[in-house]
Amino acid sequence: MVTRINPSILAADFANFERELGRIRTADLVHVDIMDNHFVPNLTFGLAMVQRLQQVSPLPLDIHLMIDDPDRWAPGYAEAGAYSVTFHAEAVADPVALARRLRSMGARAGIALKPGTAVEPYLELLPEFDQVLVMTVEPGFGGQSFMASTMPKLEALSAAVRRTGLDVWLQVDGGITEQTIVAAAEAGADTFVAGSSVFNAADPAEQITLLRATARGHQHAHG
Ligand code: DX5
Ligand code: ZN
Repeated sequence: MVTRINPSILAADFANFERELGRIRTADLVHVDIMDNHFVPNLTFGLAMVQRLQQVSPLPLDIHLMIDDPDRWAPGYAEAGAYSVTFHAEAVADPVALARRLRSMGARAGIALKPGTAVEPYLELLPEFDQVLVMTVEPGFGGQSFMASTMPKLEALSAAVRRTGLDVWLQVDGGITEQTIVAAAEAGADTFVAGSSVFNAADPAEQITLLRATARGHQHAHG
């Protein structure tokens, strides 16, 4: 079973992104949090920043759009060469049309669910997506505490993935540490976003390896 660790550069040194990328060489993808000060109260960076990161990053980019109107803005990130583009279920008008468009542009398509958003309506849409992101904190800020109350959604997704045999990555984002990653792995996650726990570690590359090994010890086949 595959285990992916995607550090979130929301917790990196914003004045030195290129150097920060060099500290996470053991990661699988780089998680980039796009916030518009509207869908979420915080503001980060946008397409121009991602275009430049795409040029300097040795790792593929995992774009997490916490923005309104992703139907309009998400394709630009696929066009920039992002490996995956994830938009929020609460913000999108036509999730299937947008996912198809992203895929046709060569990106993996992802849908993200806030902690209060039910997963059931999306289970039947799973064939349209390459990944589902279950938010384990309220989106908007790094450094918050993991919400174990979101784990039943992962269990439902994991069962659906097993039932259908689809290759859909199940991602968690928010408050992931070497402690909380255990519950997420047991509930069925295979892709783990971690901001503070990676970038605040003395050796981020080693922390990534530790997180991966910890998760791997607690994952079972989907279901
Ligand atoms: C929160 C972001 C997360 C954030 C995670 O809205 O989507 O990706 O960077 O940060 P930590 O790991 O510190 O909770
Ligand atoms: Zn994120």
